[in-house]
Amino acid sequence: MLFIGIDLGTSACKFLLTDEKGAVLNTVSREYPLMFPHSGWSEQDPAHWWQACLDGIPALLEGFDAKDVCGIGAGGQMHGLVILDENDEVLRPAILWNDGRTSEEVDYLNCEIGRSVLSERTANIAFAGFTAPKILWVKKNEPHIFARIKKIMLPKDYIVYKLTGVHSCDYSDASGMLLLDVKNKCWSKEMLELCSVSEAQMPALYESYEKVGTVKSELCAQFGFGQVTVCAGAGDNAAAAVGTGTVGEGKCNISLGTSGTVFISSDNFGVDSTNGLHSFAHADGYYHLMGCMLSAASCNKWWQDEIIGTKDYKGEEAKITDDMLGNNSVFFLPYLMGERSPINDTDARATFVGMSMDTTRADMTQAMLEGVAFAIRDSFEVARELGIDIKRSNICGGGSKSPLWKKIFANVLGIPLDIIKTEEGPGYGGAILAMVACGVYPDVRTAAHELVSVVSTIEPDPALTALYEKRYQQFKKIYPAMKQLFKDLK
Ligand code: XUL
Repeated sequence: MLFIGIDLGTSACKFLLTDEKGAVLNTVSREYPLMFPHSGWSEQDPAHWWQACLDGIPALLEGFDAKDVCGIGAGGQMHGLVILDENDEVLRPAILWNDGRTSEEVDYLNCEIGRSVLSERTANIAFAGFTAPKILWVKKNEPHIFARIKKIMLPKDYIVYKLTGVHSCDYSDASGMLLLDVKNKCWSKEMLELCSVSEAQMPALYESYEKVGTVKSELCAQFGFGQVTVCAGAGDNAAAAVGTGTVGEGKCNISLGTSGTVFISSDNFGVDSTNGLHSFAHADGYYHLMGCMLSAASCNKWWQDEIIGTKDYKGEEAKITDDMLGNNSVFFLPYLMGERSPINDTDARATFVGMSMDTTRADMTQAMLEGVAFAIRDSFEVARELGIDIKRSNICGGGSKSPLWKKIFANVLGIPLDIIKTEEGPGYGGAILAMVACGVYPDVRTAAHELVSVVSTIEPDPALTALYEKRYQQFKKIYPAMKQLFKDLK
């Protein structure tokens, strides 16, 4: 039996093939462009995602018998607004999770409707990347398009729709729309009404591991499939949590992708009283709290590819020697796309602070890596203030391939970081969800416990942790000092 996990990311779509024992047999990846039509805007063409699937799935199956494929599960970038017309054609490019155009709508929701009302209805407040403010933005700025909306969905749901013909969404991903009553797992009638959207325009809701349908016959012929079950899938962070075994009370995963997230799994529904962390459904049928920073591994990509002009990330990191760690006088605020958790500020921007004539390129690279770790620590601090004691965490995502970055993270956070055998968190999670949908495992937690294993752990070094503690306390002063300036410079 073979299973395909799809990770519909922001820079690429990654495909992973496993057997029912969880052995990863192949992986392939297909990149697509990200468009920034204005500063702070971020869009992608859903046709590119689908083309990536049409290219990627056959490449993944080269050398295997496609007839052995039993199930497909997708994890996808969350919050992106995908809108279809009455012929199920895409009406405009998808507005992505890291798009900051909706500050007016966010202010309206949080200030006029009110944070407590939103939190009561949806367990969350408005953030620029969430889907409801984007619907309000389209209604105001593109009324001719708004009038033609027949279906609203999220990025991975578009792939599930193209595969099966079914309009679906799972609870973990739907949680990030600000339209779901997360506690009761149903659409919030008040929120739909507020956005002038009817329930008929929304996709049907499923648990992530539930079967949504089967791959359409014409696609089966094209891919050489027999009958293939497609499950609802999950938001990429919930899928990554499944793929890293982050299931059960208090388990934590850090994902270092384009975004950076701290994902805390929970047995019970709970809301962060400050709404600094998102309160979402988990893909295992339970719940989680999550902090999300908008630019994590993308800071590294921007700095190395665009600014210093290299693809040799390892070579740049080799210049950062052990004695430099914890002793950098340069700081970096990683807010290239504004920031979500915990500061919720679309006007915030990235900046280096503290350079002098002896500052080197290595110091700046180090500051960039440290700035991302400090910003993740900000979400950890929110969790700590809520009384959540995170004793250790898994870590996954492209950025976690760097040994140096992982070491910085372990010491900035002061906790051991567990490395999982399969590094492709969301893709592996998607495949696990498909296995559950096909009945190979009775539930997600059982499957994750049986299939996921830790291969190594990075322990923090107390002396380095103490140095980073001092640096973090200094880092924390930079954003408040610049907050008003960012607004004035807008
Ligand atoms: C989570 C979030 C990001 C995207 C990235 O709330 O916005 O992690 O899911 O793919």
